[in-house]
Amino acid sequence: MSISTNSGEIKYAKGLEGVIAAISGISFIDGDQGILVYRGFSIETLAKHSNFEEVIFLLINGQLPTKIQLGEFSNKLKQYRQIEFLMPTLKSFPVDAHPMDVVRTAVSLMGIYCPDKSDFSKSIKQQKVLRVVAKLPTIVAAYDRIRKGLDPIKPDNSLNHAENFLYMLTGERPDSLSAKIMDILFVLHADHGMNASTFSSMVTISTLSDIYSSITAAVGTLKGPLHGGANERVLKMLGEIKSPDNVEAWIDEALEERRKIMGFGHRVYKAYDPRAKILKKYAKKLGDKKSDHLLFEIGEKVEAYMLSKVGDKGIQPNVDFYSGIVLNHLDIATDIFTPIFAISRSAGWGAHVLEYLESNRLFRPRAIYNGPYHQEYIELEKREGE
Ligand code: CMC
Repeated sequence: MSISTNSGEIKYAKGLEGVIAAISGISFIDGDQGILVYRGFSIETLAKHSNFEEVIFLLINGQLPTKIQLGEFSNKLKQYRQIEFLMPTLKSFPVDAHPMDVVRTAVSLMGIYCPDKSDFSKSIKQQKVLRVVAKLPTIVAAYDRIRKGLDPIKPDNSLNHAENFLYMLTGERPDSLSAKIMDILFVLHADHGMNASTFSSMVTISTLSDIYSSITAAVGTLKGPLHGGANERVLKMLGEIKSPDNVEAWIDEALEERRKIMGFGHRVYKAYDPRAKILKKYAKKLGDKKSDHLLFEIGEKVEAYMLSKVGDKGIQPNVDFYSGIVLNHLDIATDIFTPIFAISRSAGWGAHVLEYLESNRLFRPRAIYNGPYHQEYIELEKREGE
């Protein structure tokens, strides 16, 4: 389908499949080979050698920091961790609010309380991005404790981003393996090309709206089960399956009913998602450490069976499949999984909106109108029917 205009034919692409919406130097995906690169560094290299603070710097500034730059940058993030101004509101939320709704609302509130809200200069825009990135772990951890009737824990500036997040959730300094895995999880989720939530943030910023509005829009978009919300559903699915023995019957029924299997498939990857490959290793490692193998065994069997059934269509595990198992083994509540994705992806959202503003143009696509053209207007009193 297409629309004819004076300047030519405009082709319809459902879900914008195959449409190139921007030029970006931030991340590169080769969906056929299963490759993901941030600013020229493979995701495997970054997961092995880097850390989340360095990756945030890399995504936003385009290059790895020097030791001095990284120290200053990490200190700046630490300075922004506090959320005292949000506490009364977080405490007023119903305890059954979904944490993603809390995150979305909290980012929006940050826009109201931001001391520089009327400053639209480039350097302040970058500071606003860093404020969001720095405060999200504090918001997620504080709300998780508040809803359990516990006091929120203040950030500990002797700890890095990942360690501090786990500390604020539990009140205990994490062991080194848990902290490392959380850091890797943050690295792996930090950016992913023109994904739906990043696009959402860019559509919002393209109107010359503000950073907080664009990230609020992105959080709302990430929440959906076809995007970041899938990790939460993966765990629910594995719980429903209960045993490796039930995998085949469960999947057969779901596919017959044309239900989507959460944690599988991707618009861009037709090969194995490289992030899932890394997380699978850690899902196994954590299960072994806890002598709790059930989830991983069910997961592996789901993967093998799905590949035998639909692998030839390019439907393979995506990042959300094994991240759910990893986070469960870190004793994190299932509804916090997608907020953890948001904590990490906020770096990518920020990098993309700042990059896009450098050569901004309003996003404004078209739709094919398939409604009626000429209808007779009947006065309200004369309209028939109930
Ligand atoms: N389970 C079963 N069938 C699937 C799945 C799945 N997970 N994914 C795609 N298909 C089938 C779909 O039914 C369709 O089959 P047919 O051609 O026979 O009608 C075909 O594959 C194409 O599917 P599509 O929905 O048109 O593909 P898409 O590019 O629009 O969807 C997707 C991509 C991620 C929305 C989809 O694969 C999906 O819904 N997956 C489950 C949700 C999920 O895991 N999302 C996380 C994505 S990765 C992390 C992130 O970005 O947040």
